[in-house]
Amino acid sequence: REGGSSGVIINMEGALTARDRVGIQDFVLLDETTEAAFLSNLKKRFSKDLIYTYIGTLLVSVNPYKELDIYNKKQMDIYMGVNFFELPPHIYALADNAYHTMLTEFNNHFILISGESGAGKTEASKKILQYYAVSCPSTTLLNTVRDKMLMSNPVLEAFGNAKTLKNDNSSRFGKYMDIQFDSQGDAVGGHILNYLLEKSRVVHQNHGERNFHIFYQLVEGGSDDLLHQLGLERGCQHYNYLTQGQCPIVPSINDKNDWKTVKNALQIISFDETVIASVLHLGNVRFESDSKGHLLGVDAHRLQEGLTFRKIEAKKDQVLSPFTTDHAIYARDALAKAIYGQTFTWLVNRINESMENKDPSRKTVIGLLDIYGFEVFYVNSFEQFCINYCNEKLQQLFIELTLKSEQEEYEAEGIEWEPVQFFNNKIICDLIEEKHRGIISLLDEECLRPGDATDLTFLERLEEKMGNHPHFVTHKLADKMTRKTLERGDFRLLHYAGEVTYCVVGFLDKNNDLLYRNIKDLMCQSKNDIVKECFSSMDPDSRRRPETVVTQFKSSLQKLTEILVAKEAWYIRCLKSNESKQSGQFDEALIRHQVKYLGLMEHLRVRRAGFAYRRKYDVFLKRYKPLCPATWPHWRGVAADGVEVLAQHLGYLPDEYKMGRTKIFIRHPRTLFATEDAYEKCKHELATHIQAKYKGYRAKGEYRKQKEAATKIESCWRGTQARKEKEKRAWAVKVIKKFIKGYMTRGQAKSTDNSEYLAFVRQNYLNRLRNNLPKTVLDKTPWLTPPAVLTETSEMLRKLHYRLMVRKYVRGITPQKKAQFQMKLITSSVFKGKKDSYPQSVAHPFADTRISEEDINTRVIQMIRNERIKYCVPVIKYDRNGFKPRQRQLILTQTAVYVVEEAKIKQRVLYSSLKGISVSNLTDSTIVFHITREEPKQKGDLVVQCDHLFELLTKLCVIANKQNAINVVQGSINFEIQAGKGGAVDFSTGPEPMVYKAKNGHLMVVSWALSLLSHVSLRPTSTVIVKHITT
Ligand SMILES: Nc1ncnc2c1ncn2[C@@H]1O[C@H](COP(=O)(O)OP(=O)(O)O)[C@@H](O)[C@H]1O
Ligand SMILES: [Mg+2]
Repeated sequence: REGGSSGVIINMEGALTARDRVGIQDFVLLDETTEAAFLSNLKKRFSKDLIYTYIGTLLVSVNPYKELDIYNKKQMDIYMGVNFFELPPHIYALADNAYHTMLTEFNNHFILISGESGAGKTEASKKILQYYAVSCPSTTLLNTVRDKMLMSNPVLEAFGNAKTLKNDNSSRFGKYMDIQFDSQGDAVGGHILNYLLEKSRVVHQNHGERNFHIFYQLVEGGSDDLLHQLGLERGCQHYNYLTQGQCPIVPSINDKNDWKTVKNALQIISFDETVIASVLHLGNVRFESDSKGHLLGVDAHRLQEGLTFRKIEAKKDQVLSPFTTDHAIYARDALAKAIYGQTFTWLVNRINESMENKDPSRKTVIGLLDIYGFEVFYVNSFEQFCINYCNEKLQQLFIELTLKSEQEEYEAEGIEWEPVQFFNNKIICDLIEEKHRGIISLLDEECLRPGDATDLTFLERLEEKMGNHPHFVTHKLADKMTRKTLERGDFRLLHYAGEVTYCVVGFLDKNNDLLYRNIKDLMCQSKNDIVKECFSSMDPDSRRRPETVVTQFKSSLQKLTEILVAKEAWYIRCLKSNESKQSGQFDEALIRHQVKYLGLMEHLRVRRAGFAYRRKYDVFLKRYKPLCPATWPHWRGVAADGVEVLAQHLGYLPDEYKMGRTKIFIRHPRTLFATEDAYEKCKHELATHIQAKYKGYRAKGEYRKQKEAATKIESCWRGTQARKEKEKRAWAVKVIKKFIKGYMTRGQAKSTDNSEYLAFVRQNYLNRLRNNLPKTVLDKTPWLTPPAVLTETSEMLRKLHYRLMVRKYVRGITPQKKAQFQMKLITSSVFKGKKDSYPQSVAHPFADTRISEEDINTRVIQMIRNERIKYCVPVIKYDRNGFKPRQRQLILTQTAVYVVEEAKIKQRVLYSSLKGISVSNLTDSTIVFHITREEPKQKGDLVVQCDHLFELLTKLCVIANKQNAINVVQGSINFEIQAGKGGAVDFSTGPEPMVYKAKNGHLMVVSWALSLLSHVSLRPTSTVIVKHITT
């Protein structure tokens, strides 16, 4: 029973992944198994249109009474072949799981669909059929089988369904349908078994209910021709059998349209509508002369006789005794029921024939059992008794199958079986069906007993035999309290699902279901094939009484049990959400009632018995191994040991789990939830971890690739470089060799050996020369020494270059500068190499004048204006007597030199009388003007000290043309103080320039020695501070 138990696990996984969405998807995982918790979960889900919930493999479905968009092709595709633990509960999941288990394990299955009338059983079975029709592989050949299977539905519904108070399309028979599959999973055949058609509906309907759909479809939808042929009139109102419930027209049913579908289907199995028509006619029989017997293919007269006389067999004679009216009506109704019932059976047989697969190869089947669930009405009769008996049997089967599979699993896993607390309903089954002692036996006995057996005598017999059975009560047996709830004609059974009180009225008649023999014989002689066939099969020849209804039912149930027991079970329990067929209404009381009568809590308890969850070691380990460092990422040993380590690590208490042979068993859902929660959390962490690893791996790979590429490129590049280098070296060797040879033969005449070298030398020299040329004439950069071959050229170039530079220089000279140079030239010609301070003066340009006209007294200017002032300079004049230094202005005009003190002209020396000018050869700046005196009174020679000695004297040369008058004297300079009286100036060098009157009466001028002067060479002579010492 691997399929069943693995299904449990699969469901649990689904519930685990989705348990937080809306409620819990699997009741097995509910924390507490109370009815309140159960209902609350159901309600929570129903409010979100989640009509399906699991109890293990069992599917609980709540009728939504509205179209939900969950039965389309897309949904089917989602569930196809997918392990449905991944997906929310669905009828497709169950259908698919059954189908795939069947294919893989090659065994038979059945899906039991139960529930109250109107709970959605028939819809469920249709959904499953549609799912198989779409999801199974198909070939054109097989399509016909599939079509027939799908087509059989409307036909059986037309004949077997009716409007009741609870359901507008209530199935009034039990149906078991086998779908046969070949090993490829193709649907290749089918077979239908029907149970307990509610024949009484043909002749009687309660208020608000209808007869079977087919009658209304025929009289509303049949063509005029057809109706005429059948002697029928259009409209239900003409027929007694159709109007008792007083609601022939129902808004939710379109009889006309339905007829079209059914008519097509009926043609395929060549059904003849006359049988249906005859039933309608029978309903109108009022026991006057009538001629409609021809429809049944029997003689009208004989039919009339059959319905009005009873054939009594007394010894060898047959006596006809007339009926009372009641008897006649009974006989008529019995015939109508029999005709309809037999026709229904015939129809089912025809459908079976058409779906039969004659191929002898082995097939597996999935059986669909759409059977009435527990029925509890205000008044419960024989039908309810049979139905509820059927449910007891199915519950028994369920208990057996489930417990057996559980127990077998425990045994196989080597786990000790712990008895489960649940109610075993075998005691009730026995109460009903036990041979000779059960209710059925007693009922049959009463039916067969000669004498005046009635429903009440039957009740008495029951009380006699069952008197002290704990599950049986009657008015008479009950205690005071209970008695109040019972009528005298009632008996009550305490079914596993609850108590049901049955009213015995009609039990015997319904069980007998008698048809008088003469009518049966008459029907066997019918010319209508269908009628004849139907009644012939009712063992007409046998004198034995036919089996009673309940016994037939019992044996068919027995057969059904045998069929089912050999198969894997799947369950669908349908619940009705409310009585008024309204969407969105969750009638808690009604649902609690159904939960109870469907035994869902029982079912849940059995499912949860012992251990709520079990899982194969490898699968458990595979899912949860990330939770323990010892098992992550790989467990190298046996899976079971890994699970044990994991369980220890997770802190499972010894009582919470058991280790089987191949599976771990976990007792409480909460243990598993805690594990699952941890897993959910860990999963994200792991995912990040794996992602990071993977990214790292990718990056590394990428890096390696790039590195390889880089190395490749590098080596190629190096190769190229090396080759180039080699070429270069070879070339260099050649060049160097040639160079050396050229060098060695450089002195020889030009030849192939040295021509290149020489060219190189030449070029090299020229290039170097270009970069090392003197920039200006004044630039003292030495001319680059040429190689021997270029000595001549170099010299030429040198000359050229200097000429060029001189030219440039000359061009750049201004007139002022030219004048300056001309003056400097004069200075040079007079002093160069003669006076020591000369070199220092060269760099200092001459000024036009040293005293601007503003600084000369205006009176002086007025006096000498005519002579034009050429040059002025401040001087120190030494008195002729005593050599006292005096600040004076020396003014050169066109004609004379003036010595001026403020506004006074102290002395005027005409150039013509200036006979000589003396300076020393040292670095001092003393000048002696020698003057020719025409008159004795005239002042003597002039001794001055002028900082601009060279400038002054050069100007004088230019203005007065006195070059030749200037003497540079070594030693002393003699001069005339006045006529006849001489004086002298002595010169010497010393550490400090000074001027004083020496003891010998001479003017002593001390100046820096040339060597010292160079020391202060930066200072122009003019700024040399002369220390005057006066005595
Ligand atoms: N899954 C469903 N989705 C929508 N409506 C449903 C569904 N199941 C049942 N019904 C509604 O309930 C009615 C009764 O369902 P049905 O299968 O005939 O009940 P049962 O066979 O149990 O007596 C249907 O005619 C339909 O209107
Ligand atoms: Mg139904």
